Amino acid sequence: MKVLLTGGTGLLGRALLDHAPDRRWTLHATHLSQPPASTPHAQWHRLDVRDPSAVDALFAAVRPDAVIHTAYRMGGDALVPVTLDGTRHVTLAAKRAGARLVHLSTDVLFDGLRVGPYTEDDPRSPITDYGRAKADAEAFVLAEHPDAVAVRTSLLYSLAPDDRQARLALDLARGVARGALFTDELRCPARVDEVAVALGELVAHTYRGVLHVAGDETLSRHTFGALLVALHGGDPAALPGARSADQTTLRPRNCALAVDRMKAVLAARVRGAETVLREAIRRT
Ligand SMILES: NC(=O)c1ccc[n+]([C@@H]2O[C@H](COP(=O)([O-])OP(=O)(O)OC[C@H]3O[C@@H](n4cnc5c(N)ncnc54)[C@H](OP(=O)(O)O)[C@@H]3O)[C@@H](O)[C@H]2O)c1
Repeated sequence: MKVLLTGGTGLLGRALLDHAPDRRWTLHATHLSQPPASTPHAQWHRLDVRDPSAVDALFAAVRPDAVIHTAYRMGGDALVPVTLDGTRHVTLAAKRAGARLVHLSTDVLFDGLRVGPYTEDDPRSPITDYGRAKADAEAFVLAEHPDAVAVRTSLLYSLAPDDRQARLALDLARGVARGALFTDELRCPARVDEVAVALGELVAHTYRGVLHVAGDETLSRHTFGALLVALHGGDPAALPGARSADQTTLRPRNCALAVDRMKAVLAARVRGAETVLREAIRRT
């Protein structure tokens, strides 16, 4: 199977590249501002998804059977051009090529006012610019592409000391960075290599529509950060906490995702972050 991966230089893209040999894909990956990794099993292409003719030209050259679309920007001037317009370009090119599309979406497209987890069938209710761009991108994918899955995931992390979630928590706990992690923002963090395995399964799956692929435990940002600090030898008690509800900036507080459907549909398992991190801490 020929698979085209956008965002091959990203956190999830790198995990997918590591996982690809297990799947025996012919893999084509894209990069933009970062240099491509030296991976013998992937062919690299420089691509800016904002440019529809460049997207079309790459699809014509590669002729993929499936596409995993991870490329995005979370903010700034590029937010809508990359995250929404770029997704539109990739979606239409995949549809024309008859390629299945696995599109990466997010948990922060909800308003966060719910008590308890959101299901795949709950309406999108974004309250941030990023949430709106991802919600509109997801809606476009599902409306336009007959063979697409929109995978909503949560905070992605690895066990490496240079993981971005771990670095943030360690810097805050050591006083190197100012700020705090919220005790009332709830997420379902997911180990990135477990998500990559689940996405690998979805590439060849018949499932269509929205699917939550996230850890099966709900943690506050602060609890999650404290576990990462403990894993990497810091003092979790030193991690500053704050309440999102006390901030002036509007942020979705509860973005917990129900993952019952994931467990029913996929053989791959994405474990809760508390389970993964406590086990990793025990081993250190
Ligand atoms: N990370 C999380 O905690 C998290 C949580 C929920 C959902 N997600 C979703 O998961 C997906 C992947 O996230 P990630 O953390 O792996 O992202 P990431 O590490 O920030 O990487 C983003 C990727 O997008 C590429 N990119 C940016 N602008 C581009 C453009 N104009 N054209 C083509 N490629 C472009 C980047 O390429 P260069 O670096 O080479 O420029 C990079 O490979 C995203 O769709 C995100 O919404 C992530």
